[in-house]
Amino acid sequence: MTVQSVGIIGAGQMGNGIAHVFALAGFDVLMTDIGQEALDKALALIDRNLERQVSRDKISAEAKKAAIGRIGTTLRLADLGQCDLVIEAATERETVKQAIFEDLVPHLKPSTILTSNTSSISITRLASRTDRPEKFMGFHFMNPVPVMQLVELIRGIATDQPTYDTLHEVVEKLGKTAASAEDFPAFIVNRILMPMINEAVYTLYEGVGNVKSIDESMKLGANHPMGPLELADFIGLDTCLAIMNVLHDGLADTKYRPCPLLTKYVEAGWLGRKTGRGFYDYRGETPVPTR
Ligand SMILES: NC(=O)c1ccc[n+]([C@@H]2O[C@H](COP(=O)([O-])OP(=O)(O)OC[C@H]3O[C@@H](n4cnc5c(N)ncnc54)[C@H](O)[C@@H]3O)[C@@H](O)[C@H]2O)c1
Repeated sequence: MTVQSVGIIGAGQMGNGIAHVFALAGFDVLMTDIGQEALDKALALIDRNLERQVSRDKISAEAKKAAIGRIGTTLRLADLGQCDLVIEAATERETVKQAIFEDLVPHLKPSTILTSNTSSISITRLASRTDRPEKFMGFHFMNPVPVMQLVELIRGIATDQPTYDTLHEVVEKLGKTAASAEDFPAFIVNRILMPMINEAVYTLYEGVGNVKSIDESMKLGANHPMGPLELADFIGLDTCLAIMNVLHDGLADTKYRPCPLLTKYVEAGWLGRKTGRGFYDYRGETPVPTR
């Protein structure tokens, strides 16, 4: 199977990064979201991020121009039906993803490979709601996509070998590295990372440390490039909570219970960088801890 055209559903943090790397690697990209505003914002961001790569001599101005020229947008999900590969990167909520696949499937050509960038939801379950579980896979990019080297490839129970081989080849064309993970809640990276972030929130909740001391401790004491609360804000607190809920429900173990303080931040709409406030307030010149 050869992949040339790629449809991307959801133009948020992940969708725009995925569009960026595919266009730069020579694929034709068609991106969709629920509103024109999200698409315009994503295109402006891709332009800015590509420009940064030009100014750092990572890519040429011609490569940037060509990449921008390969990205199209549409508000009609059905337009993605003719793509060779579709990557769903919408909000981390199973009902949202299922509704998207149900709407999309009638418009797909038979050979299209369907994938989800989900951080945690069962690939087998998502695949079972489509007409092609053998051509369905988890295709998990890391944030920020243009910078992070890893892509997790997750096979559902029915995924066939040609589909896996095709996606493996696509990852190589992107210049990234694939890691294979089995289809269990949150796969590899988030199975390990999210309980650590959740524990950092408990450490804050129980008053063991404040935001600054927790992040500094892990940066200077464990040599992490970012503190866990700073990283949670970067990922999005709604996404962190959704992943903890999937771990808690899927593995039925109380060690994965989401911290009530994480829930409170999400209920407040303080979702991290993307909404201007989370464990830090980003509305001023420099981020200020909120606790
Ligand atoms: N944030 C991360 O660090 C990260 C890392 C890896 C994977 N992921 C996964 O990527 C996915 C997207 O996360 P994100 O951080 O980009 O979220 P985000 O909130 O930045 O973006 C989600 C986008 O999906 C759009 N959307 C919602 N419903 C839609 C629909 N029905 N049709 C089309 N678009 C729709 C929203 O309008 C929004 O633009 C999630 O599954 C998440 O778990 C996130």
